[in-house]
Amino acid sequence: MALSAHGRELDVTGYGRLQEDLPPFEAGPIDLAAWFGFEEPQQPLELEIGSGKGTFLVQQAQRFPGVNYLGVEWARAYWRHAADRARRHGLNNVRLLRAEAGFFVRHFIPDGALRQVHVYFPDPWPKARHHKRRLLQEPFLRELHPRLARGGAVRIATDHQDYFAWIEEHAGRVADLYERLPFESPESAGADELVGTNFERKYRREGRPFHGLILRTR
Ligand SMILES: C[S@@+](CC[C@H](N)C(=O)[O-])C[C@H]1O[C@@H](n2cnc3c(N)ncnc32)[C@H](O)[C@@H]1O
Repeated sequence: MALSAHGRELDVTGYGRLQEDLPPFEAGPIDLAAWFGFEEPQQPLELEIGSGKGTFLVQQAQRFPGVNYLGVEWARAYWRHAADRARRHGLNNVRLLRAEAGFFVRHFIPDGALRQVHVYFPDPWPKARHHKRRLLQEPFLRELHPRLARGGAVRIATDHQDYFAWIEEHAGRVADLYERLPFESPESAGADELVGTNFERKYRREGRPFHGLILRTR
């Protein structure tokens, strides 16, 4: 069993799943609630992309036991940390998948399956030659759209001025699909927080400004 940075055993049993375990992608979308083993499969489902150590998911899921939360995280250590954390809190409405989010969204999520998608502090890829790697851009937002339920929304926050300007531009390109709304902090955020993720808490101390927006399906 893997150990945390502090030498504690991390156990993801029942909470963490791996991209390698998914069925062949050619077989098409899966029944998410069944595959992830959510105890209340009929509950609305929200997806967090790049869930890091799982702070937002755990806080929000504790507040809303009537919603299922799925975090997709590429970094194995963060995925493991978040899944172990959800297990320690006994959160039957949280599951973590270690996967590349674009691949997972494209091949495995059925139409209309998601009530909300949360993307908080995505990697900004600041060099111009790396911009194509940015998660939030027109093709991805178009791919995501049918997977959202009617009135569903993508909630986005970043500390990166240039990435935010890029996101605003791409949001404009998909204005036929999404209405842009001002960001509203999730209920689990602290009084002076935008979202209250680990990343935000770390960089707030440096006085960094944060930006956010919501794209709601038309
Ligand atoms: C800057 S961190 C923010 C983590 C967390 N949301 C927070 O605010 O504390 C960005 C996270 O997104 C993950 N990530 C980046 N691209 C990803 C992708 N394509 N699929 C899944 N996870 C991704 C990274 O591994 C990293 O943990």
